[in-house]
Amino acid sequence: MLVGAPDTGKSTFAHRLLEAAAAAGVSAAYVDADVDQTTCGPPACVGLHWVHRPQDLSDLGRADALEFVGSIRPERVVLEQVVATAKLADLARTRAELVVIDTTGAISGVVGQTLKYHKMELCRPDAVVGLQRGGELEPLVGMLRRFFSATVELRAADPDVRPTSPEDRRARRAAAFAAAFAAPLERWRVRPTVFAPTLPAGLDLARLDRVLVGLMDGRGRCLGLGVLEHDDGLLRVLTNSGEEMRGLRLGSLTMDPATWEVHPVRLSEVMFGLD
Ligand SMILES: Nc1ncnc2c1ncn2[C@@H]1O[C@H](COP(=O)(O)OP(=O)(O)OP(=O)(O)O)[C@@H](O)[C@H]1O
Ligand SMILES: [Mg+2]
Repeated sequence: MLVGAPDTGKSTFAHRLLEAAAAAGVSAAYVDADVDQTTCGPPACVGLHWVHRPQDLSDLGRADALEFVGSIRPERVVLEQVVATAKLADLARTRAELVVIDTTGAISGVVGQTLKYHKMELCRPDAVVGLQRGGELEPLVGMLRRFFSATVELRAADPDVRPTSPEDRRARRAAAFAAAFAAPLERWRVRPTVFAPTLPAGLDLARLDRVLVGLMDGRGRCLGLGVLEHDDGLLRVLTNSGEEMRGLRLGSLTMDPATWEVHPVRLSEVMFGLD
């Protein structure tokens, strides 16, 4: 498991590990638990990509398995993010000798530390590599070493790593969402009974307009993303992966389908007008 603040070279390090594994004939899996600046699968999701041969590295962006989280920030979705990562780490273990888990740059504060604590607890890595500038990972690593038996190795982030500006991050995220909504897109009519969490009785469906959803197949598999549209009392989902959908998981983001930009929302506010 790789941990580190934004722009410390986690994803590059992950890529090198996978290259080395593939070159050595070690079957590997990449679990991309970064839900913002994702490498594998769309943002707001955790993705898994099998790397059994060197050529599998050429399409690392395509997720072989996907879990919906519904947010690009860990605040308020620590549970969803930990469960998603743990499920894919478990799946990865079934068919890979080396599992590389890339994580979000949240390393501090209650949210970052709680997230990492529970990821450790459920993903059970043998080794953690922390990439840091100065001593920024010391508090987190101190905690991980106290509570878990995994080897934790700290490395200095390469000074050549280029920081990504907030504008570039937004543009990369929007491009990744655009790719997840690549043509052919379809609009499917959806009934108000297909959601998790369940909609409260009498909810004005217009409140769900533009909410990002995860399409689920009814057997625990995430098929892809969709965005809800409300028009004239009817609710539809815009998606390119609707064929086998049985249920929709509500995310904590709204999406503008013209730009693929997202904005955070609180589901409890959308559904109940509550904070
Ligand atoms: N050792 C290195 N030397 C030079 N450049 C590097 C090195 N490692 C990474 N980079 C470059 O720095 C940038 C950020 O690296 P990377 O995406 O691996 O970081 P990250 O920690 O995964 O960032 P994020 O928090 O956005 O996920 C990339 O453009 C990458 O090519
Ligand atoms: Mg990264």
